[in-house]
Amino acid sequence: MKDFAPVVFNDETLQDPYPTYTRLLEEGPLHYVDVGSKWPVWSVFGHAECSSIAKDPRCSAKRAQQLLLSLPLSRQSEFSELARMFSLWLIFMDPPEHTRLRKLLNKGFSPAAIEALRPPIENLVDRMLKPLKPGMEIDLLSAFAYPMPVSVISEMMGVPDALHGTFADWSRAIAVFRGSPNRTVEHAHAAQDAMLHLTDYFRKTVAERKRNKGDDLISLLIDIEEEGEVLTEEEVYAQCIALLFAGHETTRNLIGNGMYTLLQYPEPTAELRENPEMIRSAVEELLRYESPVQFTARVLKEDIELCGQHIPKKWTILCMLGAANRDPKRFKDPNQLDLKRLNNQHLAFSAGPHACIGGQLARLEGQVAILNLVQRFPNMKLVGPRQEWASTFGLRGLTSLRVTL
Ligand code: HEM
Repeated sequence: MKDFAPVVFNDETLQDPYPTYTRLLEEGPLHYVDVGSKWPVWSVFGHAECSSIAKDPRCSAKRAQQLLLSLPLSRQSEFSELARMFSLWLIFMDPPEHTRLRKLLNKGFSPAAIEALRPPIENLVDRMLKPLKPGMEIDLLSAFAYPMPVSVISEMMGVPDALHGTFADWSRAIAVFRGSPNRTVEHAHAAQDAMLHLTDYFRKTVAERKRNKGDDLISLLIDIEEEGEVLTEEEVYAQCIALLFAGHETTRNLIGNGMYTLLQYPEPTAELRENPEMIRSAVEELLRYESPVQFTARVLKEDIELCGQHIPKKWTILCMLGAANRDPKRFKDPNQLDLKRLNNQHLAFSAGPHACIGGQLARLEGQVAILNLVQRFPNMKLVGPRQEWASTFGLRGLTSLRVTL
């Protein structure tokens, strides 16, 4: 082990993490890195290693309590409710609870259920893009990439349009807390308040929906609760918040990061415009190249040996998905954008039992949104010399994306 820990999450790597990933991957797949919190953390950068940690039953997903570790010890108890509420999310559960709930929730995300959303998503994109005209200067994120996935997930959950703005603010507060490696007390307060407001909203909505069930995701969760022994009522609210959050905070960055990347590569983008059937492989490549989720974490249930290193029980391991997606052992010319890349086994949606349940939905939204943008606005250009990346390193996205259409 080195006597100093390489810094991975600072302002410089936030703006461009890829040279650091490349350098660390050249040295090996496992590193003890400074992530801007109190202690360095063992982190896997290699594709094969990330994938095997995500699938390893000795690695627990129960890590909600760990989210508080970067706060001052004397303040952590103020946020025990926040950690408890996070711990009810599917993503922070282990088997057998995780397996049972995941199996039942999969119904809401089956290929047939997602494919049925194609026409409404195409209509939504058409409605949202119609008022935008070539030559206009806009922030593509606030005008389209953010509100579009919010409408889709809200529609799936039956959340009224009038609440989208408030929900987006609450969701952002949770994202800032979850996605920042160096969380502050202020971030934790904002996230806890948001979580309490959302719980309150869903408590009322679930009670109302029980009287009047439909074919939305909340009704599916109520059916699961009524089947018994899988979800308590409080866990139903928690899954509602988790789904709403996941629907807000990730797909928007697939569209935003994807368009930002395409605007820097006019030639492959022109090829995509001429050959719309390329959109599937193009979206896979954009997910790989500028992954909206840069890392996830697991906590060891027992001591393990990893890449020749002994790591004790209870330690956290970060899976650096964004780095794994640039691993030269897995991808030819990993730092090159190739919209026609074959066999693109990226880890943007992670792997193993917690692999993203909404992956097919995100792909569909990304394909419809990006293809429409590329085809309707062939002269779209970036405005200004450079765009800033938001401080939520784990959830990688730009603060704005100013373009001329
Ligand atoms: C481009 C968009 C998206 C990306 C990059 C993404 C990424 C991820 C990743 C990396 C994980 C696994 C984390 C881990 O292994 O610890 C995950 C899990 C999850 N995602 Fe997504 N996601 C996206 C969109 C969505 C959408 C649209 C939804 C739902 C509406 C969703 C719902 C979930 C849920 C519920 C989990 C937890 C699954 C489980 O623990 O079994 N995601 N996502």
